[in-house]
Amino acid sequence: MPTALITGATGITGRATVQQLLKSDQWTKIITLSRSQKSSHDDPKIQHATIDLQGDTKDMVSHLKEVGEVDYVFFCAYLADPDEGKALEINGTMLKNFIGALRDLGYLKHLKRFILVNGLKQYGVHLGVPKMPMVETDTWLEGNPWPPNFYYEQQRILSAAAAADANLWTWAVTYPQDVIGVAQANFMNLATALGLYASVYSSVSEDHELAFPGCKENYMAFNNWTSAKLHAEFVEWAALEPKAGNQTFNVVNGDTESWQNLWPRLAERYGAKVPKNMFPKEGKYKDFESSHVDMPTPPPLWYHAEKIGLDPEEIKNDHSWLHQQIDIAKWAERPEVVKKWEELRDKFGLDQKTWDNATWVFISFLLGRNYSCVTSMSKARGMGWKGYQDTWTAFDETLTELEEQGILPKASELRK
Ligand SMILES: NC(=O)c1ccc[n+]([C@@H]2O[C@H](COP(=O)([O-])OP(=O)(O)OC[C@H]3O[C@@H](n4cnc5c(N)ncnc54)[C@H](OP(=O)(O)O)[C@@H]3O)[C@@H](O)[C@H]2O)c1
Repeated sequence: MPTALITGATGITGRATVQQLLKSDQWTKIITLSRSQKSSHDDPKIQHATIDLQGDTKDMVSHLKEVGEVDYVFFCAYLADPDEGKALEINGTMLKNFIGALRDLGYLKHLKRFILVNGLKQYGVHLGVPKMPMVETDTWLEGNPWPPNFYYEQQRILSAAAAADANLWTWAVTYPQDVIGVAQANFMNLATALGLYASVYSSVSEDHELAFPGCKENYMAFNNWTSAKLHAEFVEWAALEPKAGNQTFNVVNGDTESWQNLWPRLAERYGAKVPKNMFPKEGKYKDFESSHVDMPTPPPLWYHAEKIGLDPEEIKNDHSWLHQQIDIAKWAERPEVVKKWEELRDKFGLDQKTWDNATWVFISFLLGRNYSCVTSMSKARGMGWKGYQDTWTAFDETLTELEEQGILPKASELRK
């Protein structure tokens, strides 16, 4: 009966992984690690340890000695830094030190598979329009003009560590898209930020409208999302499926969705109306200080141009851009918005930190980019993965869970 160890167990992907393994009978012991917050799971199968993966390796070794050998590792720890070079250094070092500690303890001799969670930055979705659909064999964006990418660093560290042990243990890496899940005060949290925006915006609006803050291009674009629960099912599958060893996998819900389809449902959930003209030419939203940022050139698509029969010169200087008709970070500072949040906070007994830690910049990017992000699931499906999650259901259920946990105002009681 295998033992699992999950790093980043309090984060959005780690927390869902812990819940998934708890549901499944085959795991006898689940070791959860995080840096600061205590694990929120209370179950006899769980042993929690607080370890700073940036800290001293000797400390890490002595803590890991207490938890004992493990069969499967799920590495969901992540530390954000806006400087891509520093993010590479930090996240690369955390992984390297952790594997080093397992090696020092002799635990790698016992290990069966190491699962690493990365994401779609693998394809440069943060740098501009990618080649679509994104597939795992797409060339890595490395060297001039591309910025450092900590995913590449982590994948190299992991595969080199397995090779150093003659591949006696194997690895798998996942690339989720924007994750829909539950976590508190983490770095990228789409559902919490969206739920805060929807509840406060629709309550401030006299007509109870819910305006889409991003741009029309984004509203009309196609995207995939990743439910944290589905991703957790996937990492369990990737750990146990013999064919998944030493492989990388996209992980998305399995439907292709758009805000034109999701936003009206979100509005309805919050008892709000979709504005008659969501994207007025004249500045209805000018008071909210719209913002526009051109992304650097070239976009990732340029790297693939020749191979797919497009003229690289034509694409090279094509700016992708981010446009918000309502700049959410600025909107969140408006006096009437802050006042409404405080009213809702007091009415529902919420924590001020939820508002203070809302990941506005992250969702501004997700709603403001002027391009689609569509990902292929063919590789995993070809190996027998059958998981699927309807994206709207994932949003609706996650928002409900966040309400039940006292993180978000209850949509059904907003104006009662
Ligand atoms: N969130 C998304 O929408 C999304 C989308 C695509 C890809 N991804 C990728 O998924 C991976 C996992 O990210 P996530 O979003 O699940 O992370 P997250 O929700 O921000 O959680 C980060 C976790 O890492 C732990 N951690 C941070 N620094 C640590 C340290 N020094 N020592 C030990 N633990 C530390 C945190 O512990 P504490 O709580 O104790 O600080 C927390 O449990 C990342 O590669 C990320 O890029 C995320």
